[in-house]
Amino acid sequence: MSCSLRAATVTDLDALCHLEAICFDGDRFTRRQLAYLLARANAHTLVAYTTPGDEVVGYATLLFRRNSRVTRLYSFCVAPQARGGGVGRALLEALEREARRRDMTRLQLEVRADNRVALGLYRRMGFSVLRWLEDYYVDGCAAWQMGKTLPSAGQAWASQDKLGEGTNRDGECREHARIAPDLSPARK
Ligand SMILES: CC(C)(COP(=O)(O)OP(=O)(O)OC[C@H]1O[C@@H](n2cnc3c(N)ncnc32)[C@H](O)[C@@H]1OP(=O)(O)O)[C@@H](O)C(=O)NCCC(=O)NCCS
Repeated sequence: MSCSLRAATVTDLDALCHLEAICFDGDRFTRRQLAYLLARANAHTLVAYTTPGDEVVGYATLLFRRNSRVTRLYSFCVAPQARGGGVGRALLEALEREARRRDMTRLQLEVRADNRVALGLYRRMGFSVLRWLEDYYVDGCAAWQMGKTLPSAGQAWASQDKLGEGTNRDGECREHARIAPDLSPARK
């Protein structure tokens, strides 16, 4: 199975509801919240879909705030059957590119302290821990707030050029934000 990414639309609502159901044990976004996220929130959502098959197997959302160059990874998950194949990393990398395109300078997120897979992925992608948030989720679990400075579009190109010269590398988050009033806090 191979996967591609595209921007989500309102027609992906059923698929996102399904992903919520199979990826999270509790504290899921409701259909109404997801509809808001897709249609109205100041957000950008990407979906990963299989080719062939066109089955949506993951999604990730960035939220933006007016007059802020800090963006937040608001939601992020991959269906269990599609995990471990690079879909999650591809979604995050694509969202980082979108954030840079919008001149964002920082990407932040919160992650459950017991989510070892996500913590490892974020660390390897260059996020560092900002602070510990005690009793952050509805079940009492703590969170790490993590952040990453994004290179400007110009810096990113320069860095890719440099990598291309000397190496074979080809260049280069569910979290909640209490930003959009219709969206619930505290998840993942
Ligand atoms: C976190 C999540 C999105 C990762 O998605 P994924 O498609 O499996 O991620 P990838 O295949 O790109 O793997 C990312 C990294 O995690 C590692 N990894 C994946 N699954 C792993 C596992 N079960 N145990 C240990 N490491 C694992 C991979 O080796 C990879 O490492 P690399 O970055 O060095 O290559 C997915 O596990 C998920 O949806 N979890 C449930 C919801 C969730 O926790 N969302 C994140 C909230 S903060």
